[in-house]
Amino acid sequence: MPGCRCRRRSRRATATSHHGFTYTGDIITARVAVVGSLSECLRTGALSVLTWIAIGRCIRRFHDLGVCHADLNAHNVLLSEEAVYLIDFDRCELRGPGLWCDMNLVRLRRSLEKLTWALPPERFAEADWHALLDGYRQNSAPGAPPAP
Ligand SMILES: Nc1ncnc2c1ncn2[C@@H]1O[C@H](COP(=O)(O)OP(=O)(O)O)[C@@H](O)[C@H]1O
Ligand SMILES: [Mg+2]
Repeated sequence: MPGCRCRRRSRRATATSHHGFTYTGDIITARVAVVGSLSECLRTGALSVLTWIAIGRCIRRFHDLGVCHADLNAHNVLLSEEAVYLIDFDRCELRGPGLWCDMNLVRLRRSLEKLTWALPPERFAEADWHALLDGYRQNSAPGAPPAP
């Protein structure tokens, strides 16, 4: 079953400077060996229920760290044989608990629907979304309080 790659860093990996309505920023990247993005994988075939659960768990780990993804769509979720990765953290923010968690999930659901509407129905069924939510509702860390 794929796990989740989500590392807590003690120092900032990026720096930005704002100039009126625009900004420039530094970014550090590392290429990960993946099978493809979630969108690419769905174009090829259906995912296992364990993969959907792992995606939900991965998103939950980021949310538990307060990471609000500004553009959580199926292109920004990468899958390898063992792990799920979230990428593209441009404009993301660290936030306290709030409705933004649900908004991230709504954004991903919209993206999945848009991407799969013309594909065979088994590529993204209601049961897949429920598996993702099941993963999301599991505790992300040992000793964590139960999910709401
Ligand atoms: N760290 C990475 N490892 C492997 N592939 C990546 C990585 N980052 C990006 N990619 C690939 O590049 C694509 C675009 O990257 P992304 O950071 O989302 O750029 P954009 O801001 O243009 O959406 C991704 O969908 C993925 O296929
Ligand atoms: Mg992207």
